[in-house]
Amino acid sequence: MKNVLVTGGAGYIGSHTCVELLNAGYGVISIDNYSNSAPESINKVKKITGKNIISFNCDIRDQNKLCEIFSKYNIDSVIHFAALKAVGESCRKPLSYYNNNILGLISLLEVINKFGVKKMIFSSSATVYGNNPVPYSEDMNTGNVTNPYGRTKYFSEQILSDLYFSDKKWNILLLRYFNPIGAHESGLIGEDPNGIPNNIMPVISKVAVGLLPKLTIFGNDYDTPDGTCIRDYIHVADLALGHVKALEKIDSECGILECFNLGTGKGNSVLELVNTFEKTNNCRVNYEIGDRRSGDIAVCYASAEKAKKHLNWEAKYDLERMCQDTWRFQVNNPNGY
Ligand code: UD1
Repeated sequence: MKNVLVTGGAGYIGSHTCVELLNAGYGVISIDNYSNSAPESINKVKKITGKNIISFNCDIRDQNKLCEIFSKYNIDSVIHFAALKAVGESCRKPLSYYNNNILGLISLLEVINKFGVKKMIFSSSATVYGNNPVPYSEDMNTGNVTNPYGRTKYFSEQILSDLYFSDKKWNILLLRYFNPIGAHESGLIGEDPNGIPNNIMPVISKVAVGLLPKLTIFGNDYDTPDGTCIRDYIHVADLALGHVKALEKIDSECGILECFNLGTGKGNSVLELVNTFEKTNNCRVNYEIGDRRSGDIAVCYASAEKAKKHLNWEAKYDLERMCQDTWRFQVNNPNGY
């Protein structure tokens, strides 16, 4: 059995990926500092899969602890999720973002390199495309990002590329996520942000369940059919399966650096998302139209062709299913984990 180290394994995308890795027969070692996640999600992963997962409370900047873990387990590859991800917070605390996301990556890579693992899947973001024309494809220029969070993703991609060009024995895949929403069909794991959520889906579900008074839709005067922004919403379970496919790819190759979009290739507006959530779940989402949020772009969706062709992966869940699964998690876990 091949062992995968998953950093940020207790987080939203990390925990769903752990489920799919265990289901696919991998051994999973999760490390997480639980700064924006709960250890309970690891117990839920065990419950869903009926399999064991080894987990450590470990910060990726703690090289002594990382070395202990690498010495003890025969780790074959690393999937690196652990990072801070709130755009607004990154503008207020840029050093904290560079410390966590950049120094954390370097710390992890130094240890991985020392133990000769050389297989890494990196959690990147569509944010690296900045304001390119849609659909975003992997050959477009990146780096025109407008906030520190986005820059940490762009710089991380550059660091990993430099590492690859210094030693082509590395196998590195950069996965650029679009807008992950939804939850595991069991209703046991889902998105559980600390404090007031920033991303839209946790706001919608908390408004629908009565935990927040209303959703403010950030602008309805964009150049889109209904005036609200368009995003490529992707089910987190599809995204998780994309990581299993990515692992299969780095296992079968020797010396690659590639980036892949993980998106559906389709865009939906904020109003379409809200209407679908209400209709599918037979509930009400109280909303008002507010000002545009600074930094938002009108339209963002992926070209999903490259992943289909080279990873043999494509998203299969539709928006209704994403809304149903989100709702199930919210209703089952009104106060989070
Ligand atoms: C944001 C980040 C992106 C990051 C991703 C994951 C920005 C500009 N981009 O993507 O870099 O990778 O989160 O953390 O912040 N919306 C509302 N009301 C709300 C919340 C959101 O109308 O209360 C709208 C937004 O204007 C946007 C859409 O919903 O049109 C999606 O927003 P969000 O979930 O925050 O994701 P992104 O902004 O696309």
